[in-house]
Amino acid sequence: MAFEVRPLTATLGAEVFGVDLANVDDATRDDLRKAWLDHKVLVLREQAITIVEHIAFGRLFGELEVHPFATGIEEHPEIVKIHSTAEFKYAASNWHSDVTWREEPSMGSILRGVIIPPAGGDTCFADATAAYARLSDEWKVRVDPLFAIHDFTRTFGRRLSDEGRAEKQKEYPPARHPVVRTHPETGARGIYTNRTFVSHIEGVSADESEEIIDHLERAIMNPSVQCRVRWDVDTFVMWDNRCTQHCATNDFWPQERRVERVTVIGDRPF
Ligand code: SIN
Repeated sequence: MAFEVRPLTATLGAEVFGVDLANVDDATRDDLRKAWLDHKVLVLREQAITIVEHIAFGRLFGELEVHPFATGIEEHPEIVKIHSTAEFKYAASNWHSDVTWREEPSMGSILRGVIIPPAGGDTCFADATAAYARLSDEWKVRVDPLFAIHDFTRTFGRRLSDEGRAEKQKEYPPARHPVVRTHPETGARGIYTNRTFVSHIEGVSADESEEIIDHLERAIMNPSVQCRVRWDVDTFVMWDNRCTQHCATNDFWPQERRVERVTVIGDRPF
C-alpha cells in the first residue's frame, strides 16, 4: 500500500497517513477500499480540499445520495451539513447507521470537520459485527430470523407538517430490513437495528420488540466494541454504514460545530 494504516482498536477504526484526498489514483482507491473494509472506520487528517473534491472523493466509492430531509448546500445537494450553534443546538447524538429508513440504505459516509469546538464534539463509532459476535448463542438464535421496520417519521418526520409528512411517506414508506444483516463484501454478520430509526420488530409483541431493540442497542453501546474520533478542521472520517453505528457526543455547548457529509448509496440489506 502507498500509505500507512495505524489501527485504533483490533477490529474497528484506523488512522491513515500519506494520502491526499484530492489526488487519489485507481490503485490508491482500491487500497483505501480494502483498508475501509478491514477497519470499517478510517480517519484522514489535514485534508484541506474543496467541497467539489470532497464530492469527487466520495464518488470514487459509488453514487452519492441527495438527502431528502437534511439541510444541504444549495449548489452542492450531495453535501449534508450538520451545523450546531449556541442558538441551534443539534448533534446526531443517538446511535444509528445512516438512512436505514431507505430501502437501499447507505453503504458508507464520508464526513469532514469544518468548524470544530475547542473541546468536545467527538464522534463515537461501534463495530456492529463485533457487537453481534458478543451476543449469547440464545440471543443469536432469537434475533437471526427477525426483521425490523425502519421509519424516517421517528426523526426527520417530526419537523414536517402532517401533510408534508404524508407526502414524504408515499415516497419513503417504512423499510423492512433483517435485524442481523450480512455484509455484502465481507460476509460478516452484524446488528442492523438502531433506536433512532427502528419503530418495531416485525411479528412480535410491543414488549418483546422493545426488549430486543434495547438488548441490541446495549450490545452496540459496549465500549469494548467502540472507537472514538477527536476532530480537527479538515479531518475526514469515512465509515461503513453496513457494519458500524455512530453517535456524536452532545458535550460542546455553547461552542459551534459544523461537519459536512457525503453519503454513498448502498444496496438492499440481506
Ligand atoms: C452523522 O450522524 O452523520 C453525523 C455524525 C457527527 O456529527 O459526528
